[in-house]
Amino acid sequence: MPVPANSIPVAKEGYGRVLIVGAAGFIGHLVAAASLRAGMPTYLLVRSASATKAKPTVKALQDQGAIIVQGDINDKECTERTLKELKIETVISAVGGEAVMDQIPLVEAIKAVGTIKRFMPSEFGHDVDRAEPVQPGMNMYIQKRQVRRLIEDSGVPYTYILCNSIASWPYFDNTHPSEVLPPTDKFHIYGDGSVKAYFVAGSDIGKFTIKALYDPRTLNKSVHFRPKSNYFCINELASLWESKIGRVLPRVTVSEDHLLALAAENRIPESIVASFTHDIFIKGCQINFDIEGPDEMEVGDLYPEERFITLDQCFNEFYARLLKGKVGAEGGEKVSKAEDVVITPPVEAADIIPPSHVMEPLPISAMCA
Ligand SMILES: NC(=O)c1ccc[n+]([C@@H]2O[C@H](COP(=O)([O-])OP(=O)(O)OC[C@H]3O[C@@H](n4cnc5c(N)ncnc54)[C@H](OP(=O)(O)O)[C@@H]3O)[C@@H](O)[C@H]2O)c1
Repeated sequence: MPVPANSIPVAKEGYGRVLIVGAAGFIGHLVAAASLRAGMPTYLLVRSASATKAKPTVKALQDQGAIIVQGDINDKECTERTLKELKIETVISAVGGEAVMDQIPLVEAIKAVGTIKRFMPSEFGHDVDRAEPVQPGMNMYIQKRQVRRLIEDSGVPYTYILCNSIASWPYFDNTHPSEVLPPTDKFHIYGDGSVKAYFVAGSDIGKFTIKALYDPRTLNKSVHFRPKSNYFCINELASLWESKIGRVLPRVTVSEDHLLALAAENRIPESIVASFTHDIFIKGCQINFDIEGPDEMEVGDLYPEERFITLDQCFNEFYARLLKGKVGAEGGEKVSKAEDVVITPPVEAADIIPPSHVMEPLPISAMCA
């Protein structure tokens, strides 16, 4: 439902009104926070105003000036009215994997309104036209492809944000791994642990998404996030964390077959995460292509003056949270898995003794416990 005119924030010069769908969620909250930091008049479309307002993440965004608008993107007519009445200029969707197809009526509403200058659909991961994860992950990519084709065929101006992995320990069974500390008992290493990936801090995902939103160079393009400072394989990630906690942890190999077996169990969402883990750390889906097409750009090339938060800085922050005994998701606090771990001060990376052996993989049932 549109809000009264007197509660509409004044636009910072050059910025129109952005409507963000899914701001109560993990990625959507990061994007909404960045939008507010950039001084954009920010509207949040939430399904149930009473339930969502109660979420601390949405309440915090509201306190920073976001305007809550109730709605469901499945309702095309209502979305169309909202876009028109609020004079929305840009729309960012960050609906979760299970709601990818809800964006079909949203695209239709945007097309019908005809004045939206840019739409960013819920991508925020890999290039779904290139990557071919095993099922059930592939289903989500097929749906994201369908949304892409509808956008392109409708002539809706768009940008696809392909931010790769969020900076964190990439647990194979957790959709939001940055909400959990890296391990303090053992590392699960996928395959031989040598396949590299890009890890981007949550606040940088938000920041560069908002920069790209009003950038004429990103119109109808895919924007890939490949920060050189954050290009790590999982063995290097493990060593980085060991350098923070000052201890060497056992490394347990999770083989390709194990990941495939977990994916084949078809438990949602765990099996989806297993299939993506396989795609990233076994098949190398983030790095097995060059960004060279006419419709794609790299975010570092677009904004060479901007720095990314490094993985080293992110892991320093994880370590600080570990010392506190709690891990704070951006917007909430979760009890750490490692509260009772005895922490020694960080040591120089050079002082870390490499692990002497690789343990046998755990049986699947144990890994899922
Ligand atoms: N790169 C990475 O590391 C990474 C990690 C996670 C996700 N992703 C990607 O990021 C995107 C967002 O995923 P997420 O995990 O952040 O999602 P999420 O936490 O599950 O949040 C999804 C949000 O969308 C809202 N929503 C769902 N259906 C809706 C509808 N019909 N109308 C209005 N709002 C609706 C939900 O509202 P309610 O609060 O009402 O449920 C929720 O706020 C996905 O494309 C996902 O693949 C990337």
